Amino acid sequence: MRRVNELRPDALCEARGEVLEVGFGSALNLAFYPEAVSKLVALDPKPADELPAFADRMEAARFPVERCGLPADGGLPFDAGRFDTVVTTWTLCSIPDARAALLEMRRVLRPGGRYCFIEHGRAPGGRIARWQDRLDPLWCRIADGCHMNRRIEELVSGAGFEIQGFEHFRHEGPSLLSQMFRGVAIRAN
Ligand SMILES: C[S@@+](CC[C@H](N)C(=O)[O-])C[C@H]1O[C@@H](n2cnc3c(N)ncnc32)[C@H](O)[C@@H]1O
Repeated sequence: MRRVNELRPDALCEARGEVLEVGFGSALNLAFYPEAVSKLVALDPKPADELPAFADRMEAARFPVERCGLPADGGLPFDAGRFDTVVTTWTLCSIPDARAALLEMRRVLRPGGRYCFIEHGRAPGGRIARWQDRLDPLWCRIADGCHMNRRIEELVSGAGFEIQGFEHFRHEGPSLLSQMFRGVAIRAN
């Protein structure tokens, strides 16, 4: 994950107010949230508390952090429209039912609120995408349920978000896993 840390500030720069981060992992985003963030609800079904650096990162947070150990694709225990921002970073690949999770994330976002994301996924087409499709079943088995060929733009817009900014770029690392998709989408109503 060290290789991708440099991508976090740009992905998070539009977060503000009360934020729901889905797939909180080992708290690697905490240090990169902008000052406009006032509170974070950190959701992840797999706690990373045993990692030595985790407690240090939590302690250094500049705003209150509330933990929630539930999966995002099982129905979120939050009122509709509660959050100003929802964030995922390299998480849609690992959620078994990413569409169900995105529908829930949209529900709990306030109208006009932002969904900020950076994800890896399926190349826009060509040889790399075909290899991703071929190798995904094997990769998913050895990489703890991570899919390399999810169509990020289609997933986000298919869940009813209005995409306002979106870019695809290749980051360092193997081309099958370094197709990056960064964007901001809003819940229009
Ligand atoms: C590749 S890690 C990324 C962690 C973190 N977002 C980051 O940027 O370092 C994927 C995360 O998604 C979480 N995850 C897996 N299934 C999930 C689900 N159903 N709902 C929410 N998060 C899930 C995993 O536990 C893991 O922490």
